[in-house]
Amino acid sequence: MISIMGHDNRLAEYEILPHILERWSPRSMTGDPILRDDLFAIFEAARFAPSAYNEQPWRFVFALSGTPNFDRFKAILVQYNWDWAKKASALLIVAAKDTFSHNGEPNKWSFYDCGCACGFLALEATRRGYVTHTMAGFSAEEAIEKLDIPEGYTPIVAIAIGKIAPRDFLPDELQEREFPSPRKPQSDFIFRGSFSGE
Ligand SMILES: Cc1cc2nc3c(=O)[nH]c(=O)nc-3n(C[C@H](O)[C@H](O)[C@H](O)COP(=O)(O)O)c2cc1C
Repeated sequence: MISIMGHDNRLAEYEILPHILERWSPRSMTGDPILRDDLFAIFEAARFAPSAYNEQPWRFVFALSGTPNFDRFKAILVQYNWDWAKKASALLIVAAKDTFSHNGEPNKWSFYDCGCACGFLALEATRRGYVTHTMAGFSAEEAIEKLDIPEGYTPIVAIAIGKIAPRDFLPDELQEREFPSPRKPQSDFIFRGSFSGE
């Protein structure tokens, strides 16, 4: 067993890239500003993700804490998420371009590609000492309106990037959930030969 964080939910059975094991999604953040170089290096990691037809369908609209743009996320995030994510250093909306640029056909893989780019982003953030927390709890309609997201792009998730803070900065009910989540064993999701094993 390989453990990086000393937490039972972050024990890997094989040696893997340490930042994969280190990454988790805390809600307790300090509200400190993010360094410009760190933010753009984190986006740079996303840039090198693979994508169908190399379409690179990901789009990131970001806002830095302490700016009017950041305050717009109050209306975009659901209340539950805003209550903790307001202490992030940066908030993002990830939107996918819905069609391929080379032929205008629907891109069935755009969400897949955005997810991969966000994975790369999260790992680079981890390497640089930041935490990320993805959120489905936001209003796509508000994001489209408040962030001027044009037709042909679908908002998929919001992401908070920040510096981790002690868990007791959170309200009690959130403190209880402030730990790295468990993982299924490989036997639940790896199938040799066929799904049924026959
Ligand atoms: C697509 C997606 C949507 C999520 N939505 C929310 C959310 O709205 N609010 C929240 O607090 N956490 C949200 N999460 C965080 C997950 O609960 C968390 O990633 C999962 O429990 C695994 O934990 P870990 O990231 O710490 O390993 C979301 C994660 C993903 C990938």
